[in-house]
Amino acid sequence: MTDSSLRVLLSAAEIQARIQELGKQITADYPSGTLQLICILKGACFFLADLARAIDREVRVDFMGISSYGKGKTSSGEVRVTKDLDISLEDSDVLVVEDIVDSGVTLNYLIHILEQRRPKSIRVAALLDKPDRRLRPVHVSYVGFRIPDEFVVGFGLDYAEKYRNLNDICVLQEPPGAPGQCLLAG
Ligand code: PRP
Repeated sequence: MTDSSLRVLLSAAEIQARIQELGKQITADYPSGTLQLICILKGACFFLADLARAIDREVRVDFMGISSYGKGKTSSGEVRVTKDLDISLEDSDVLVVEDIVDSGVTLNYLIHILEQRRPKSIRVAALLDKPDRRLRPVHVSYVGFRIPDEFVVGFGLDYAEKYRNLNDICVLQEPPGAPGQCLLAG
C-alpha cells in the first residue's frame, strides 16, 4: 500500500525475524507441557498467528476482548472485558499476547483478573513496547521491539480501524487531530 503519510519504522522482514527469535526463546523457556496463548483483540491477532507458529511446543489459543472507556486512557484503569475466554486457566502456563504496551493500563488490569483464575504461570509477550508512555507497571517477559513515543500503525495496529493489514509497522506522520492532541497508538 502506498501512502505518503506512512514512514516505515520496522520492516516486515525485521518483524518476522524478531518473531522467530521470540519463538525460539519461548520454546526454550517452556520445555514441557502445553502453553496457553491468550490473544488480546483485535490488534494482537496478527502477532499471535506468527508467534504461535514460531513456538515449537504444543500451544492452544484463545481470545479476549478488552475495552477502555473512550480512548482517553488514564491511570484510572477503567477497563472492561468485552469478550471472555472460552477455557479455564487453572494450572495452565499462560502467555498473554499483545501487539503493544503503551500506558500499561490494559495489561495491568488484565493480569490482575487472569491471576485470579489460578494459572500455573502467567507471562506477557508484546511485539511493541513504548516505555516512555507507561502509567501503570507491567512486566513484559518477551518484548519484540522497544519503540519511541510515535503513533504507529500496521501489523495489527490501527488508526480508526485502518492500516491493520500493513506488513510493516509504520509511523503515521500526520495523524488527524489537533496539534498537540494526544493520540494513542494501537
Ligand atoms: C491497544 C493494544 C493494547 C492496548 C495497549 O489496543 O492492543 O490492548 O491498546 O494500550 P495501553 O497499554 O495504553 O493500555 P486498542 O485499545 O487500540 O484495541 P485494538 O487492538 O482492538 O485496536
